[in-house]
Amino acid sequence: MAVLSRIGVALDSELLRRFDRFIARQGYTNRSEAFRDLIRDKLVGAAVEAPDAPVVGTVTLIYDHHTRLLPEKLMNLQHEYHDVVIATTHAHLDHDTCLEVIVLKGTSKRVRRLADLLVGAKGVSHGRLVLSSPAAALSQTA
Ligand code: NI
Repeated sequence: MAVLSRIGVALDSELLRRFDRFIARQGYTNRSEAFRDLIRDKLVGAAVEAPDAPVVGTVTLIYDHHTRLLPEKLMNLQHEYHDVVIATTHAHLDHDTCLEVIVLKGTSKRVRRLADLLVGAKGVSHGRLVLSSPAAALSQTA
């Protein structure tokens, strides 16, 4: 169990009011938990920037599976980068539209490279990579 430290933070009153409204909408019941999550999010964001940092992530893709050669291209890319692909989930949203979520684990550089190729593939109408670093999120000293 981590040792808790109490700190005082001086904030502009209007900024604090906006922060309180924001965290209330997010469902937080106290400021401390909201501050902790914001700090962790910043630390994780910084940790995944280093090219060799170990990261986990998901790529979400939306595409029309009738787009010529697109399903094959997405499949081939995942085989080419099989060392970082942990799992793939595919949902058929309607007659034409597919949603694919690909779970990735590896170095930041290699995971980002694959994500760029997938999201940038011709015919992908929307795609986004979300990265995390469990080590940075959980570390007491990061
Ligand atoms: Ni589909």
